[in-house]
Amino acid sequence: MSERLHILITGGAGYLGSTMVPALLAAGHRVTVLDTFMFRQNSLAHVCADPGFAVVRGDAREEAVLRPLVQTADVVIPLAAIVGAPLCDRDRTAAVSLNRDAVATLVRLLSREQRIMMPVTNSGYGIGEQGKHCTEESPLRPVSLYGRTKVEAEAMVLERGNAISFRLATVFGMSPRMRVDLLVNDFVHRAVYDRAVVLFEPHFTRNYIHVRDVARAFLHGIDRFEAMRDNAYNVGLSDANLSKWQLCERIRAHLPGFVFVEAPIGEDPDKRDYIVSNAKIEGTGYRPTHSLDDGIAELIKGYVMIRDTHYGNV
Ligand SMILES: NC(=O)c1ccc[n+]([C@@H]2O[C@H](COP(=O)([O-])OP(=O)(O)OC[C@H]3O[C@@H](n4cnc5c(N)ncnc54)[C@H](O)[C@@H]3O)[C@@H](O)[C@H]2O)c1
Repeated sequence: MSERLHILITGGAGYLGSTMVPALLAAGHRVTVLDTFMFRQNSLAHVCADPGFAVVRGDAREEAVLRPLVQTADVVIPLAAIVGAPLCDRDRTAAVSLNRDAVATLVRLLSREQRIMMPVTNSGYGIGEQGKHCTEESPLRPVSLYGRTKVEAEAMVLERGNAISFRLATVFGMSPRMRVDLLVNDFVHRAVYDRAVVLFEPHFTRNYIHVRDVARAFLHGIDRFEAMRDNAYNVGLSDANLSKWQLCERIRAHLPGFVFVEAPIGEDPDKRDYIVSNAKIEGTGYRPTHSLDDGIAELIKGYVMIRDTHYGNV
């Protein structure tokens, strides 16, 4: 590492953040997390012993909370968001005020020298681009409120400059703040506990990336900021542009009793069917190090500890 930086991460106690924060600390950076801990998570307990780590409970939409925190930051990573289309539809006002407007506030508060790095969903590529290879030049046409707020935030950040945006594939793998709603995590959970899944539109192809490789992409961006700045980069596994059916076949290789069938009727509400090129970030020297199979094996282990049955007796 060349420089020891102070990094402010809003929403840093979430699924991505609770894997990213220890990685940034291990690389020698100082990290301050601002989070509301909306899931009552203690996902950063293991880094509290690190003197380079600071944590603030507060709302990333509050200018008065943000203002003193941004003052000493070299890099800001806005992870705080209402994440995913279903959650955004449940509270549309919160989705707009956090996913978009809080990023606008950050952009306004930061000085020119301060850097921003943010994650965006690449799901908008999938709309109307069936079977096509999507690059960063392909239009992002999000249909959900979630997708729209993220794409609007990305546009603000890139227009402001001194920024990098990472357009992430569907993330998988274990993290201290776990999410079992993400596609791979969800299918492996079903394979472990239900041993079966019904697929709508099983030929729809998506792409995937391990949660630790997301952290590595941000570290890569910090280390090569000058060369990479003012651009968006797709981040996914180039050997894992797989349909849902192929994903299930990969899971069955680990769990032979897993049964999956195609539903004769019904639609995938998510309408994603696309192949993504990661050539641009790979051209900067970045390579993911965790395969889909690594992630599936890791999830099977993790689900020995986690079982998502809030209201079941067993
Ligand atoms: N996980 C993915 O597959 C994926 C893909 C693309 C982009 N992203 C983006 O990455 C970021 C993190 O996603 P995640 O999967 O870790 O989700 P997450 O829901 O696990 O994390 C969100 C975090 O934000 C916190 N938070 C909520 N409201 C807040 C507020 N008002 N102020 C401060 N903190 C608040 C939550 O407590 C949580 O720790 C989001 O911006 C998301 O859009 C995620």
